[in-house]
Amino acid sequence: MSSSSITVQADQVLERILSMEIVRVTERAAVSAARLRGHGNEMDADQAAVDAMRRELNKLPIDGTVVIGEGERDEAPMLFIGESVGNKNGPKVDIAVDPLEGTTLCAKNMPGSIATMAMAQGGTLLNAPDVYMDKIAIGPGYKKGLVDLDASPADNIHALAKAKGVKPNEITALIMDRPRHAELIAAVRKTGASVSLITDGDVVGVINVADPDATGIDIYIGIGGAPEGVLAAAALRCIGGQIQGRLILDTEEKRERAKKMGVLDPRKKYLMEEMVRGDCLFAATGVTTGSMLKGVRFRDKIIETETVIMRSTTGTVRWIRAEHRQLDKFQL
Ligand code: FBP
Repeated sequence: MSSSSITVQADQVLERILSMEIVRVTERAAVSAARLRGHGNEMDADQAAVDAMRRELNKLPIDGTVVIGEGERDEAPMLFIGESVGNKNGPKVDIAVDPLEGTTLCAKNMPGSIATMAMAQGGTLLNAPDVYMDKIAIGPGYKKGLVDLDASPADNIHALAKAKGVKPNEITALIMDRPRHAELIAAVRKTGASVSLITDGDVVGVINVADPDATGIDIYIGIGGAPEGVLAAAALRCIGGQIQGRLILDTEEKRERAKKMGVLDPRKKYLMEEMVRGDCLFAATGVTTGSMLKGVRFRDKIIETETVIMRSTTGTVRWIRAEHRQLDKFQL
């Protein structure tokens, strides 16, 4: 056996181990945020999740770099873009984190907040600044490019309905409930399709398209966060589906920030394979109970969490319902 095949095997074993290890990262972040559910303070809940996630990431045998993080270096004290994480005894990896996705949902104790992260080989995740991203996503089984960011909402709905073998009025589109989407929502409704609105949390929003039978969602369209777009792309890379995204770089300052991260064409339309250029792992733990995950449950001497982990190499999706008894590990 050649030394390079030994290295490949070692990498695979490590990747399998890491796919289980990252559960602890999102679990700890979720529990820390969940202690502040309903306290009306987005920043404190986010900070608690960030601190816990960083602590756990630094225990992992990786030489990691945060490429999607809490913001850029001068605006985020921790888990900023470019920060090194891990104990350095392992492979070079890119990390995308959203320690608390849906800060408002958590602060108001509303459904659907999660702690989430993705991991991929170093240099393979899109380095995106914390700006908006225009996105469109559909589930698996359709020809590539069936829907397109540059096509009209009506054309996309009709193309999807035709490929699915249904009428447009049997299609449901998920869109964030924002004034910026008024025209989009009207255009989708005009086709006869149904619009399902969410107030926050478009990582799960996009993941919904991967299983329309279960979620009732056929397509995600609209503008949300760019970090959330890359995280969602990592999830779809594992479970199938397609997503396209375009960064919204509408000021010189944003274009400059993006340029520093290697975005040379500010109008570039990124395909899923360009946002996540190789195999990846994705994990999410529920903070408040939502459509995908149960939230953290604090019982007398047990903390319960629910986590989903996805691995693109095999397409395996694991649901881990954990009972934690060493509660001191979960202290802030
Ligand atoms: P936060 O957790 O950072 O608050 O993000 C929640 C979220 O709803 C994301 O899921 C979404 O991508 C983004 O906000 C949309 O941004 P905005 O609230 O500015 O429309």
